[in-house]
Amino acid sequence: MERITMTLFLATTLLMLSGSPLVNAQKKKSHVASPTPSPAPAPAPEYVNITELLSVAGPFHTFLNYLQSTKVIETFQNQANDTEEGITLFVPKDGAFSSLKKPSLTNLTKDQLKQLCLFHALPHYYSLSEFRNLSHAGPVNTFAGGDYTLNFTDVSGTIHMTSGWSITKISSSVFSTRPVALYQVDKVLLPEAIFGTDIPPMPAPAPAPVIAPAAADADADADSPADVTKAGKSPASSTPLDASASSQVMGNLVLALAGVLVMFL
Ligand SMILES: *[C@@H]1O[C@H](CO)[C@@H](O)[C@H](O)[C@H]1NC(C)=O
Ligand SMILES: *[C@@H]1O[C@H](CO)[C@@H](O)[C@H](O)[C@H]1NC(C)=O
Ligand SMILES: *[C@@H]1O[C@H](CO)[C@@H](O)[C@H](O)[C@H]1NC(C)=O
Ligand SMILES: *[C@@H]1O[C@H](CO)[C@@H](O)[C@H](O)[C@H]1NC(C)=O
Ligand SMILES: *[C@@H]1O[C@H](CO)[C@@H](O)[C@H](O)[C@H]1NC(C)=O
Repeated sequence: MERITMTLFLATTLLMLSGSPLVNAQKKKSHVASPTPSPAPAPAPEYVNITELLSVAGPFHTFLNYLQSTKVIETFQNQANDTEEGITLFVPKDGAFSSLKKPSLTNLTKDQLKQLCLFHALPHYYSLSEFRNLSHAGPVNTFAGGDYTLNFTDVSGTIHMTSGWSITKISSSVFSTRPVALYQVDKVLLPEAIFGTDIPPMPAPAPAPVIAPAAADADADADSPADVTKAGKSPASSTPLDASASSQVMGNLVLALAGVLVMFL
Protein backbone atom coordinates (compact mmCIF):
# COMPACT_ATOMS: atom_id res chain seq x y z
CA MET A 1 0.00 0.00 0.00
CA GLU A 2 2.74 2.42 0.98
CA ARG A 3 4.65 1.52 -2.19
CA ILE A 4 1.71 2.34 -4.42
CA THR A 5 1.15 5.72 -2.76
CA MET A 6 4.87 6.46 -3.11
CA THR A 7 4.79 5.45 -6.77
CA LEU A 8 1.80 7.62 -7.50
CA PHE A 9 3.49 10.56 -5.78
CA LEU A 10 6.68 9.99 -7.75
CA ALA A 11 4.83 9.64 -11.01
CA THR A 12 2.90 12.87 -10.44
CA THR A 13 6.05 14.76 -9.46
CA LEU A 14 7.85 13.38 -12.49
CA LEU A 15 4.98 14.44 -14.73
CA MET A 16 5.04 17.98 -13.32
CA LEU A 17 8.80 18.30 -13.51
CA SER A 18 9.22 16.87 -16.98
CA GLY A 19 6.06 18.36 -18.45
CA SER A 20 6.35 22.09 -18.05
CA PRO A 21 9.94 22.84 -19.08
CA LEU A 22 9.62 20.60 -22.10
CA VAL A 23 6.44 22.29 -23.23
CA ASN A 24 8.04 25.71 -22.80
CA ALA A 25 11.14 24.66 -24.70
CA GLN A 26 9.01 23.27 -27.48
CA LYS A 27 7.06 26.52 -27.68
CA LYS A 28 10.15 28.69 -27.87
CA LYS A 29 11.84 26.46 -30.41
CA SER A 30 8.80 26.41 -32.68
CA HIS A 31 8.55 30.20 -32.52
CA VAL A 32 12.10 30.69 -33.74
CA ALA A 33 11.87 27.98 -36.36
CA SER A 34 8.48 29.10 -37.73
CA PRO A 35 9.11 29.77 -41.42
CA THR A 36 8.56 33.23 -42.90
CA PRO A 37 5.60 33.03 -45.28
CA SER A 38 6.75 33.81 -48.81
CA PRO A 39 4.97 36.75 -50.48
CA ALA A 40 2.03 35.88 -52.72
CA PRO A 41 3.09 35.42 -56.34
CA ALA A 42 2.48 38.45 -58.55
CA PRO A 43 -0.69 38.06 -60.61
CA ALA A 44 -0.11 37.48 -64.28
CA PRO A 45 -0.28 40.78 -66.19
CA GLU A 46 -3.35 41.02 -68.37
CA TYR A 47 -5.11 43.59 -70.48
CA VAL A 48 -7.02 46.11 -68.38
CA ASN A 49 -9.57 48.21 -70.24
CA ILE A 50 -9.46 51.64 -68.56
CA THR A 51 -12.58 52.88 -70.35
CA GLU A 52 -14.50 49.94 -69.01
CA LEU A 53 -13.10 50.42 -65.48
CA LEU A 54 -14.15 54.08 -65.47
CA SER A 55 -17.61 53.27 -66.89
CA VAL A 56 -18.56 50.74 -64.25
CA ALA A 57 -17.06 52.35 -61.09
CA GLY A 58 -17.52 55.77 -59.58
CA PRO A 59 -19.53 57.44 -61.19
CA PHE A 60 -16.52 58.78 -63.07
CA HIS A 61 -18.38 59.85 -66.23
CA THR A 62 -17.18 63.47 -66.20
CA PHE A 63 -13.54 62.42 -65.97
CA LEU A 64 -14.02 59.76 -68.64
CA ASN A 65 -15.67 62.32 -70.94
CA TYR A 66 -12.71 64.66 -70.53
CA LEU A 67 -10.29 61.80 -71.25
CA GLN A 68 -12.20 60.91 -74.40
CA SER A 69 -12.66 64.45 -75.72
CA THR A 70 -8.94 65.15 -75.27
CA LYS A 71 -7.93 61.67 -76.52
CA VAL A 72 -5.84 61.28 -73.35
CA ILE A 73 -7.62 57.96 -72.85
CA GLU A 74 -5.45 56.52 -75.65
CA THR A 75 -2.27 57.72 -73.95
CA PHE A 76 -3.40 56.13 -70.68
CA GLN A 77 -4.52 52.87 -72.27
CA ASN A 78 -1.25 52.64 -74.16
CA GLN A 79 0.62 53.04 -70.87
CA ALA A 80 -1.65 50.47 -69.20
CA ASN A 81 -0.75 48.05 -71.98
CA ASP A 82 2.93 48.53 -71.05
CA THR A 83 3.08 45.95 -68.28
CA GLU A 84 6.65 46.92 -67.31
CA GLU A 85 5.89 50.42 -66.01
CA GLY A 86 2.14 50.44 -65.74
CA ILE A 87 0.08 53.45 -64.69
CA THR A 88 -1.47 55.00 -61.59
CA LEU A 89 -4.64 57.04 -62.08
CA PHE A 90 -6.20 59.50 -59.64
CA VAL A 91 -9.87 59.79 -60.46
CA PRO A 92 -12.28 62.38 -59.00
CA LYS A 93 -15.94 61.42 -58.89
CA ASP A 94 -18.54 63.35 -60.86
CA GLY A 95 -19.48 65.17 -57.66
CA ALA A 96 -15.94 66.57 -57.33
CA PHE A 97 -16.29 68.20 -60.77
CA SER A 98 -19.76 69.58 -60.14
CA SER A 99 -18.79 71.04 -56.76
CA LEU A 100 -15.74 72.72 -58.30
CA LYS A 101 -16.86 76.34 -58.65
CA LYS A 102 -13.60 78.24 -58.58
CA PRO A 103 -11.46 78.02 -60.57
CA SER A 104 -13.73 76.85 -63.34
CA LEU A 105 -12.68 74.35 -65.98
CA THR A 106 -15.15 75.70 -68.52
CA ASN A 107 -12.90 78.29 -70.14
CA LEU A 108 -9.72 76.25 -70.26
CA THR A 109 -8.16 75.87 -73.69
CA LYS A 110 -8.10 72.41 -75.26
CA ASP A 111 -4.40 72.07 -74.46
CA GLN A 112 -4.93 73.09 -70.84
CA LEU A 113 -7.72 70.55 -70.49
CA LYS A 114 -5.45 67.86 -71.93
CA GLN A 115 -2.70 68.81 -69.45
CA LEU A 116 -5.23 68.73 -66.62
CA CYS A 117 -6.20 65.17 -67.60
CA LEU A 118 -2.58 64.05 -67.89
CA PHE A 119 -1.95 65.61 -64.48
CA HIS A 120 -4.22 62.93 -62.96
CA ALA A 121 -1.87 60.04 -63.67
CA LEU A 122 1.65 58.83 -62.90
CA PRO A 123 3.51 56.85 -65.59
CA HIS A 124 4.19 54.00 -63.17
CA TYR A 125 2.15 51.51 -61.20
CA TYR A 126 2.15 52.18 -57.44
CA SER A 127 0.43 49.98 -54.93
CA LEU A 128 -0.91 51.82 -51.88
CA SER A 129 2.02 50.67 -49.76
CA GLU A 130 4.51 51.94 -52.32
CA PHE A 131 3.30 55.50 -51.78
CA ARG A 132 5.11 55.44 -48.45
CA ASN A 133 8.36 55.78 -50.39
CA LEU A 134 7.00 58.54 -52.61
CA SER A 135 6.19 60.64 -49.57
CA HIS A 136 9.94 61.06 -49.01
CA ALA A 137 10.78 61.57 -52.68
CA GLY A 138 9.76 65.26 -53.01
CA PRO A 139 7.69 66.40 -56.00
CA VAL A 140 6.67 63.48 -58.25
CA ASN A 141 6.33 63.88 -62.01
CA THR A 142 2.90 63.24 -63.47
CA PHE A 143 2.05 62.29 -67.03
CA ALA A 144 1.78 65.99 -67.89
CA GLY A 145 5.56 66.35 -67.34
CA GLY A 146 7.52 69.54 -66.65
CA ASP A 147 6.15 71.63 -63.81
CA TYR A 148 3.15 69.39 -63.36
CA THR A 149 4.19 67.67 -60.16
CA LEU A 150 2.35 66.28 -57.16
CA ASN A 151 3.58 66.03 -53.58
CA PHE A 152 2.60 63.00 -51.55
CA THR A 153 2.48 62.56 -47.81
CA ASP A 154 1.64 59.51 -45.80
CA VAL A 155 -0.59 60.49 -42.86
CA SER A 156 -0.97 57.36 -40.71
CA GLY A 157 -1.36 55.18 -43.77
CA THR A 158 -3.65 57.50 -45.74
CA ILE A 159 -2.05 59.02 -48.81
CA HIS A 160 -2.51 62.76 -49.01
CA MET A 161 -1.49 64.74 -52.07
CA THR A 162 -1.13 68.37 -52.96
CA SER A 163 -0.88 70.21 -56.25
CA GLY A 164 -0.79 73.61 -54.63
CA TRP A 165 -4.43 74.36 -55.45
CA SER A 166 -5.88 71.11 -54.25
CA ILE A 167 -5.07 69.31 -51.07
CA THR A 168 -6.77 65.95 -51.21
CA LYS A 169 -6.34 62.29 -50.38
CA ILE A 170 -6.87 58.86 -51.84
CA SER A 171 -10.31 58.01 -50.51
CA SER A 172 -10.50 54.51 -51.97
CA SER A 173 -8.70 52.03 -54.13
CA VAL A 174 -11.01 51.23 -57.04
CA PHE A 175 -8.61 48.89 -58.81
CA SER A 176 -5.02 47.98 -58.02
CA THR A 177 -3.51 45.07 -59.87
CA ARG A 178 -0.20 45.53 -61.63
CA PRO A 179 0.08 47.18 -64.17
CA VAL A 180 -2.97 49.40 -63.44
CA ALA A 181 -3.89 51.27 -60.27
CA LEU A 182 -7.02 53.38 -60.13
CA TYR A 183 -7.54 55.40 -56.96
CA GLN A 184 -10.49 57.62 -56.19
CA VAL A 185 -9.57 61.11 -54.97
CA ASP A 186 -11.82 63.62 -53.23
CA LYS A 187 -11.03 66.60 -55.44
CA VAL A 188 -10.08 67.56 -58.96
CA LEU A 189 -6.31 68.05 -59.05
CA LEU A 190 -5.55 71.60 -60.16
CA PRO A 191 -1.97 72.23 -61.30
CA GLU A 192 -0.21 75.50 -60.55
CA ALA A 193 1.18 75.32 -64.08
CA ILE A 194 -2.32 76.11 -65.37
CA PHE A 195 -3.97 78.08 -62.58
CA GLY A 196 -0.93 79.98 -61.34
CA THR A 197 0.52 80.30 -57.87
CA ASP A 198 -1.96 82.95 -56.77
CA ILE A 199 -3.82 80.43 -54.67
CA PRO A 200 -6.73 81.71 -52.57
CA PRO A 201 -6.36 80.89 -48.87
CA MET A 202 -7.88 77.57 -47.89
CA PRO A 203 -10.35 77.27 -45.04
CA ALA A 204 -8.60 75.75 -42.03
CA PRO A 205 -8.91 71.97 -42.23
CA ALA A 206 -11.11 70.35 -39.62
CA PRO A 207 -9.15 68.41 -36.98
CA ALA A 208 -8.84 64.79 -38.02
CA PRO A 209 -10.94 62.38 -35.98
CA VAL A 210 -8.88 60.06 -33.79
CA ILE A 211 -10.40 56.86 -35.13
CA ALA A 212 -10.01 57.59 -38.83
CA PRO A 213 -6.22 57.08 -39.20
CA ALA A 214 -6.33 53.64 -37.61
CA ALA A 215 -9.11 52.45 -39.90
CA ALA A 216 -7.39 53.95 -42.91
CA ASP A 217 -4.13 52.36 -41.81
CA ALA A 218 -5.64 48.91 -41.70
CA ASP A 219 -7.18 49.54 -45.09
CA ALA A 220 -3.94 50.71 -46.62
CA ASP A 221 -2.03 47.83 -45.11
CA ALA A 222 -4.24 45.30 -46.80
CA ASP A 223 -1.81 44.78 -49.66
CA SER A 224 1.31 45.71 -47.73
CA PRO A 225 4.23 43.27 -47.59
CA ALA A 226 4.65 44.38 -43.96
CA ASP A 227 1.73 42.08 -43.24
CA VAL A 228 4.20 39.19 -43.31
CA THR A 229 5.30 40.03 -39.77
CA LYS A 230 1.72 40.30 -38.60
CA ALA A 231 0.82 36.98 -40.18
CA GLY A 232 3.66 35.35 -38.22
CA LYS A 233 1.97 36.33 -34.97
CA SER A 234 -1.58 35.52 -36.05
CA PRO A 235 -3.65 33.03 -34.05
CA ALA A 236 -3.84 30.75 -37.09
CA SER A 237 -0.11 29.97 -37.01
CA SER A 238 -0.07 29.45 -33.24
CA THR A 239 -2.59 26.59 -33.43
CA PRO A 240 -0.03 23.95 -34.46
CA LEU A 241 2.15 25.10 -31.54
CA ASP A 242 -0.56 24.39 -29.00
CA ALA A 243 -1.32 21.07 -30.62
CA SER A 244 2.28 19.90 -30.35
CA ALA A 245 2.53 21.21 -26.78
CA SER A 246 -0.54 19.28 -25.69
CA SER A 247 0.64 16.11 -27.42
CA GLN A 248 3.86 16.50 -25.42
CA VAL A 249 1.79 16.64 -22.20
CA MET A 250 -0.19 13.58 -23.30
CA GLY A 251 3.05 11.73 -23.97
CA ASN A 252 4.34 12.45 -20.48
CA LEU A 253 1.03 11.39 -18.96
CA VAL A 254 1.07 8.06 -20.80
CA LEU A 255 4.67 7.47 -19.70
CA ALA A 256 3.81 8.22 -16.07
CA LEU A 257 0.74 5.95 -16.13
CA ALA A 258 2.76 3.16 -17.70
CA GLY A 259 5.27 3.58 -14.89
CA VAL A 260 2.51 3.21 -12.30
CA LEU A 261 1.20 0.06 -14.01
CA VAL A 262 4.67 -1.48 -14.10
CA MET A 263 4.98 -0.89 -10.33
CA PHE A 264 1.64 -2.66 -9.79
CA LEU A 265 2.67 -5.78 -11.69
C1 LIG B 1 -12.94 48.72 -73.67
O1 LIG B 1 -14.20 48.91 -73.05
C2 LIG B 1 -15.08 49.77 -73.77
C3 LIG B 1 -16.30 50.00 -72.91
O2 LIG B 1 -16.77 48.81 -72.37
C4 LIG B 1 -15.40 49.15 -75.13
O3 LIG B 1 -16.25 50.00 -75.86
C5 LIG B 1 -14.09 48.91 -75.89
O4 LIG B 1 -14.35 48.24 -77.09
C6 LIG B 1 -13.10 48.11 -75.05
N1 LIG B 1 -11.81 48.07 -75.73
C7 LIG B 1 -11.17 46.93 -75.99
C8 LIG B 1 -9.88 47.07 -76.72
O5 LIG B 1 -11.59 45.85 -75.62
C1 LIG C 1 -4.09 47.79 -75.61
O1 LIG C 1 -4.14 46.39 -75.68
C2 LIG C 1 -5.40 45.92 -76.18
C3 LIG C 1 -5.40 44.40 -76.07
O2 LIG C 1 -4.19 43.87 -76.49
C4 LIG C 1 -5.61 46.42 -77.60
O3 LIG C 1 -6.86 45.96 -78.10
C5 LIG C 1 -5.60 47.95 -77.59
O4 LIG C 1 -5.69 48.44 -78.92
C6 LIG C 1 -4.34 48.46 -76.96
N1 LIG C 1 -4.52 49.90 -76.80
C7 LIG C 1 -3.54 50.78 -76.95
C8 LIG C 1 -3.91 52.23 -76.84
O5 LIG C 1 -2.36 50.47 -77.14
C1 LIG D 1 -12.16 81.95 -67.04
O1 LIG D 1 -13.19 82.90 -66.99
C2 LIG D 1 -13.24 83.67 -65.80
C3 LIG D 1 -14.41 84.58 -65.85
O2 LIG D 1 -15.55 83.94 -66.30
C4 LIG D 1 -11.94 84.44 -65.66
O3 LIG D 1 -11.94 85.13 -64.43
C5 LIG D 1 -10.77 83.49 -65.70
O4 LIG D 1 -9.55 84.19 -65.69
C6 LIG D 1 -10.83 82.64 -66.94
N1 LIG D 1 -9.77 81.64 -66.88
C7 LIG D 1 -9.00 81.32 -67.91
C8 LIG D 1 -7.98 80.24 -67.67
O5 LIG D 1 -9.10 81.85 -69.01
C1 LIG E 1 11.26 51.83 -50.65
O1 LIG E 1 12.48 52.32 -50.13
C2 LIG E 1 13.31 51.31 -49.60
C3 LIG E 1 14.51 51.99 -48.95
O2 LIG E 1 14.93 53.09 -49.69
C4 LIG E 1 13.70 50.36 -50.72
O3 LIG E 1 14.52 49.33 -50.22
C5 LIG E 1 12.44 49.75 -51.33
O4 LIG E 1 12.76 48.93 -52.42
C6 LIG E 1 11.51 50.85 -51.77
N1 LIG E 1 10.24 50.22 -52.18
C7 LIG E 1 9.61 50.56 -53.28
C8 LIG E 1 8.36 49.83 -53.52
O5 LIG E 1 10.02 51.42 -54.04
C1 LIG F 1 6.32 69.98 -52.79
O1 LIG F 1 7.44 69.68 -51.99
C2 LIG F 1 8.55 70.56 -52.23
C3 LIG F 1 9.67 70.12 -51.31
O2 LIG F 1 9.87 68.74 -51.38
C4 LIG F 1 8.15 72.00 -51.93
O3 LIG F 1 9.24 72.86 -52.26
C5 LIG F 1 6.93 72.38 -52.77
O4 LIG F 1 6.50 73.67 -52.43
C6 LIG F 1 5.81 71.40 -52.56
N1 LIG F 1 4.72 71.72 -53.45
C7 LIG F 1 3.47 71.80 -53.04
C8 LIG F 1 2.48 72.09 -54.10
O5 LIG F 1 3.16 71.63 -51.88
